[in-house]
Amino acid sequence: MDPKYNLGIPEIDAQHQEIGELVKALQEAIADSRQRYLVHPTLKRLHQLLVTHFDYEESFLKMLNADELRHHKAMHKGILKLFEDYFDHPPAPADYEYFGKVVGDKVLGHVMNHDDGMAASMRAYFGNFKASAQKVPGKP
Ligand SMILES: [Fe+2]
Ligand SMILES: [Fe+2]
Repeated sequence: MDPKYNLGIPEIDAQHQEIGELVKALQEAIADSRQRYLVHPTLKRLHQLLVTHFDYEESFLKMLNADELRHHKAMHKGILKLFEDYFDHPPAPADYEYFGKVVGDKVLGHVMNHDDGMAASMRAYFGNFKASAQKVPGKP
């Protein structure tokens, strides 16, 4: 994933990087008919990674008592639903390309367009935490 989408929170940026690589691997497996057998396992790995990643973000937002938790959680749920629908009713191989595009657009679109608001709350928290940790007792 392009570094311009880094949020400045190393743990989350590393997770986003891994997600971006798996989306790329998924789209490559779909584009090359000789690699189609990789579509299902790649989706499984991406789904597992997203479940863990979304839980990480939501736990953080909950800890910060952030206003955006509810909306952000709903977006995560919508993305995971795509995967659940796929596992319940896998599309025909002829529809893989469309499915791969939808997954890529939804997952990367979320990271690029919606996680930044969440990250702003986190950066504010870490900034405040760092500022209070650097205060010398007895000095303002
Ligand atoms: Fe994220
Ligand atoms: Fe998110």
